[in-house]
Amino acid sequence: MESKGTTETNSQTDNKITRAQFTTKLGVIATTVGSAVGLGNIWRFPYETGTHGGGAFLICYIFFIFVIGIPVICAEFIMGRGTRSNIFGAFRKLAPGRKWYFAGYIGILASLMILSFYSVVAGWTIEYLIQSVSGSLALANPEDYHTKFDEFSTGNVRPVLWTLVFLLFNFLILRRGVTKGIEKMSNIMMPLLFLLLLVFCINSLLMPKAQEGLYFLFHPDFSEIDSSVLLGAMGQAFFSLSLGLGCMATYASYFSKKTKLIKSAGITASLDTTVALLAGIIIFPAVFTFNMSPAAGPTLVFEVLPSIFHHLPGGAVWSSLFFFLLFLASLTSTISMSEISIAFFTEEKKMSRRSATILNTAIGCVFGTLCALSFGALSDFKIFGLTAFNLFDYVSSNILLPFGGMLISIFVGWFVDRKFIKTQLSNDHKVKVRLMTLIVFCLRFVAPTGIILVFLNSIGII
Ligand code: TRP
Repeated sequence: MESKGTTETNSQTDNKITRAQFTTKLGVIATTVGSAVGLGNIWRFPYETGTHGGGAFLICYIFFIFVIGIPVICAEFIMGRGTRSNIFGAFRKLAPGRKWYFAGYIGILASLMILSFYSVVAGWTIEYLIQSVSGSLALANPEDYHTKFDEFSTGNVRPVLWTLVFLLFNFLILRRGVTKGIEKMSNIMMPLLFLLLLVFCINSLLMPKAQEGLYFLFHPDFSEIDSSVLLGAMGQAFFSLSLGLGCMATYASYFSKKTKLIKSAGITASLDTTVALLAGIIIFPAVFTFNMSPAAGPTLVFEVLPSIFHHLPGGAVWSSLFFFLLFLASLTSTISMSEISIAFFTEEKKMSRRSATILNTAIGCVFGTLCALSFGALSDFKIFGLTAFNLFDYVSSNILLPFGGMLISIFVGWFVDRKFIKTQLSNDHKVKVRLMTLIVFCLRFVAPTGIILVFLNSIGII
């Protein structure tokens, strides 16, 4: 056990700071994985894969995780633990007097946008949890689940109510602070969710059309790779790894000096990708078995999963347990994205933690309501042809996150002192670093060019 709240001196910034710290090794992994694993893996990954043609999307997604995702996690870890600051402060400490900290504003803006639409989907999990417990989720036909979801999501009361209830839970945990609120919950919840997914996976593999589903997911048709597949896969990689806006940097600022950064980045990325794959293996065999369309969009899992549970013995128990864990997994993710703006408000704007948490929640409530209503009363209110929900999702995931990630990789790759990087990766020369050259190479060249090429490609320039 490492003690929390130790005082450390940092080599480049050279100031003494007392901050909260995660208390155990498991805590570090469980919280970063807790941030990464969430609706992004279980709700967003299957629907993005489904709308972008299956295997082709998966291949691009995995490619981006390795060549851009892992190096950028390392960059965020270096910035966060090295400065023990929020993302905004990290840029300022590492490049004093320069305008780099503006990149921090992107993080704060994007994190609030994501919080808004994410809370809506998390609210859906509350509705489905209640319905599972009350037994009203058992319906005769797969099509009935489509109608049911439609009726619920186009309503104007329950979707908004659950969004606000979810934000209240988020608020209550955030108020308790980093180590107490976040770490304890992640330690128990993450392993349990993983086990449950394994059980569902086996169940799906035994379905009549399992092969068709697996073929869709794992067989890449390279001719389908176009600009929207590339942009979608890159956005999904950033979204799923909680990257690009300083979320991982903020968490890393609570790491102890003994946390091995590269190893933690590798474990986080592998577990996160495994959970996404498990979700795919659960969903697609069922989609084909029940003759549903893989390209249903954001509603996909809320129609497919209940059908799966319905066919399991003791279905109501499984589905209650699942939606409860999904609700918790969403909470560990929203806590992490809220922590970006809360750390900014408290450390840069000198607000109390309480006021900062209230402000973060209030913004979430206003924009969350807007997103919740974009399936009902506000479904005709469109900007650039997209509803508020879709606009927030698209702009934050496909534009702001990769753009933020590009700035972070250029910053760490080109502007941060090599010695500082080395000190961080080697825990002050106490552990060997083998991959430093490769990581710095990816940060300098591969990640920024990759991101720019995908951007240019999607606006039709190449
Ligand atoms: N990665 C989380 C998920 O997959 C969502 C998330 C949490 C996130 N924190 C973030 C996304 C920061 C982008 C940035 O559900």
